[in-house]
Amino acid sequence: MAHKMDFANRDRLRDSWRREHLDPATLWRRAGLASGSIAVDVGAGIGYFSVPAADLVGPTGKVYAADILPEMLADLRAFLPAAHAARLETVNSTEYSVPLADQIADVVLLSFVAHEVDDPARLIQECSRLLKPGGHLLVLDWDPGVEPPPGPPTEHRLAEEALVSALTTASLSVDARRPAAPGVYEVLATRRP
Ligand SMILES: C[S@@+](CC[C@H](N)C(=O)[O-])C[C@H]1O[C@@H](n2cnc3c(N)ncnc32)[C@H](O)[C@@H]1O
Repeated sequence: MAHKMDFANRDRLRDSWRREHLDPATLWRRAGLASGSIAVDVGAGIGYFSVPAADLVGPTGKVYAADILPEMLADLRAFLPAAHAARLETVNSTEYSVPLADQIADVVLLSFVAHEVDDPARLIQECSRLLKPGGHLLVLDWDPGVEPPPGPPTEHRLAEEALVSALTTASLSVDARRPAAPGVYEVLATRRP
C-alpha cells in the first residue's frame, strides 16, 4: 500500500532544502501559469506551491488547492495572505476524485503526490479530466533511482517511466522531462484535444 505523508511532518513541506531547490514561481511559469490563469494544485498540502500560484495568477485568475486532508488545507488557509483569499479556494478531495468541473484548468500540478496513491494512473486520469485541451500538467516526484535523503524510501517512489506511460494513456502528450532538483524528476505534459 502506498505511503502517505503524516500531517505531523508538514513542516518538511516548507523546509530549507525545498526553498533552495524548488522555486514555485519558476516551476509554475515553466508549466505556463500566467496572469488570469486557472490552476488546480492536486494534493496541495500546506500550499507551498498554491500560495505562490495565487501571486502569479493575479486578481483575474484562480487557484484551487485540493487535498484529502482537511487539516493540511486549514494550515494552508492560516498562512494565506488576506489579499489572496478571493483567488485561492481550498477543495476537499477524495483519493481519485477532485470535485471540480471538467476542463476547468489551464494548469494542473501534481507535486509529490503520485507516489502516495496505489493507482497513480487513476489519479493522472483525474488530473487530465480537469484540464482544458491544450492545458498543461506538471508532475514532480521522487526518483526511485536516487538514494534518500531527502524523500521517502526508494520502495515508496514511483518510476518516471510508469508515470510517463500513465500520462500517455490519459490523453496527455509529454513535452519535457528533466531533473527539477537532486533526486526529483519533473515531467510536463499537455492535454490533447
Ligand atoms: C508530500 S505532500 C506534497 C504537498 C504539496 N504538493 C507540495 O509539494 O508541497 C502530499 C500531499 O498530497 C496529499 N494527498 C495524498 N493523496 C492524495 C490524493 N489522492 N488526492 C489529493 N491529495 C492527496 C496529502 O494529504 C499531502 O498533503
